Amino acid sequence: MLLEGKRLVITGVLTDDSIAWHAARVAQEEGAALVLTGFGRGMRLTRRSAQRLPDPPEVIELDINDPEHLAALTADLDSRWGGVDGALHAIAYAPEDALGGRFLETPAESAATAFVTSAFSYKSLAVALRPLMRAAGGGSLVALDFDNTQAWPAYDWMGVAKAALQAVTRYLARDLGGDRIRVNAVSAGPLSTVAAKSIPGFTRFDEVWAKRAPLAWDTSDPTPVAQMIAVLLSDWAPMTTGEVVHVDGGFHAIAAGAED
Ligand SMILES: NC(=O)c1ccc[n+]([C@@H]2O[C@H](COP(=O)([O-])OP(=O)(O)OC[C@H]3O[C@@H](n4cnc5c(N)ncnc54)[C@H](O)[C@@H]3O)[C@@H](O)[C@H]2O)c1
Repeated sequence: MLLEGKRLVITGVLTDDSIAWHAARVAQEEGAALVLTGFGRGMRLTRRSAQRLPDPPEVIELDINDPEHLAALTADLDSRWGGVDGALHAIAYAPEDALGGRFLETPAESAATAFVTSAFSYKSLAVALRPLMRAAGGGSLVALDFDNTQAWPAYDWMGVAKAALQAVTRYLARDLGGDRIRVNAVSAGPLSTVAAKSIPGFTRFDEVWAKRAPLAWDTSDPTPVAQMIAVLLSDWAPMTTGEVVHVDGGFHAIAAGAED
């Protein structure tokens, strides 16, 4: 099995539609041992979703912006496993006024909140897990990106935060390579999750994808994304770091579909 013996931390499971839930499912099917993290009022939902996984894992509370939570996570994983082989960062948040087409009116604090929770936080997770991945002799980190090479309707400051996340991926790859820690991102096509539904006009994304992606893209099927996450967390991508791997049905490579 691809992830036999791997000890992985999966953030960002809210419902069983969450990309992270599918990543957790595939990882368990491939032999990994997991810990999930949950956030704030969503903890209850995360615990419920954990019960629907093949082997219900434990859920640890983690507000990615809370240094005490991060320290407690490190301590918990140290006493539980003594080392960690990899993690998924599946965390994003932007205040309402940073989304929805009011790009010119968004206050700096809202744009900064989107940046800190959605991009800077990859660094926070990496630093918290670094000693445990060093103890394991190396590791693999994966984050979830959405296309930010172009401006989208409504995506606004989240698009800017995702561009920052790509840059954070490269700098983490630079600084953690010496510890044999690989740092990558998966750029996923649109998937129907709680986060996606909170973006006004998200259905526009689906329409564009349906016309342009050469492979038929299904917004209700996160499995292809979960499979790529599993590959990057495995030993089968040993010399890949600082990379953004597209799992988007090929959308990024095509300028216009036949009916665009
Ligand atoms: N759904 C899509 O179309 C799509 C496409 C590409 C990338 N992504 C990215 O995938 C990732 C997961 O999102 P999803 O679509 O599965 O939605 P989701 O709503 O299921 O997951 C978002 C998660 O972020 C967590 N979160 C928010 N603030 C947090 C904080 N302060 N600390 C810890 N956790 C926090 C939430 O608890 C939730 O679990 C996000 O980074 C998102 O931008 C989503």
